[in-house]
Amino acid sequence: MAHDSTAFIRPVSLPRDRPALDHIFRVTCGESLKTEPSWTISSCHPYPLLSRSTCFVLDPGNGDGAVGYILSTPNTRQFAQDWTEKYVPSLDRKLLPQPDVNGSKAVDDKPTQLLQLLHGDPERALNFSYPGLVDKWPGHLHIDILPSHQGRGWGRKLIDTLMEALRAEGCKGVHLGMEAVGLGALKFYTKLGFSRYPEVLDGGVSGETGRTGGEGPVIYLVKDIPI
Ligand SMILES: CC(C)(COP(=O)(O)OP(=O)(O)OC[C@H]1O[C@@H](n2cnc3c(N)ncnc32)[C@H](O)[C@@H]1OP(=O)(O)O)[C@@H](O)C(=O)NCCC(=O)NCCS
Repeated sequence: MAHDSTAFIRPVSLPRDRPALDHIFRVTCGESLKTEPSWTISSCHPYPLLSRSTCFVLDPGNGDGAVGYILSTPNTRQFAQDWTEKYVPSLDRKLLPQPDVNGSKAVDDKPTQLLQLLHGDPERALNFSYPGLVDKWPGHLHIDILPSHQGRGWGRKLIDTLMEALRAEGCKGVHLGMEAVGLGALKFYTKLGFSRYPEVLDGGVSGETGRTGGEGPVIYLVKDIPI
């Protein structure tokens, strides 16, 4: 697989990478995340703050910052605790999204939604209720690459880089949730050794394991990390 000659993977660096992380998130996120509060307080914010050793960016090597990221934590339970105790108190209330936030879809009550996210139950948000998910695969990850750099092998390299970092942290397995639309990402993860979280989540309606039902279904994938 050919790689760009100048691009390279490096640890995330804040505050330098913040604008690029936001941009990548907004370009690549699914429709369900193009609503507040995700648009303003994008889900990529807490990871570099709380779990920097397992966060990396794809640097194009031309001074433009970053064109992709992989953001992860080796310990989802600790992450949830740090979210409540460190991340939420660190937020600037001026970030509260206003009704006309550029590019976002209208939602009924954005400040209320944001506050629900910030002060809500991170354990629920991070899927602690699914049997064994967080215990057997304690890490979780998000990966996104701008279209200009997709399909060139960088996703594979970012996953490989992360797996080494998670192994160094003593993490025995990692999970992720992806929107069950378009199967390109699913093919990517399958090639990289991920498999379906082996639990039926929608009462068997879809006939699939690892898939939630209802609106905005999500497919959960897992991967062991041999120490
Ligand atoms: C999904 C994503 C991270 C993959 O990264 P990438 O750099 O494009 O993928 P790579 O070039 O490293 O591909 C690695 C392997 O996966 C396969 N693959 C990648 N995308 C694929 C697709 N859409 N369909 C089928 N196979 C795919 C490649 O063919 C390659 O296989 P090979 O090594 O056997 O040749 C990237 O395309 C992306 O960010 N997409 C948009 C956002 C997104 O979907 N993020 C994931 C949300 S859960």
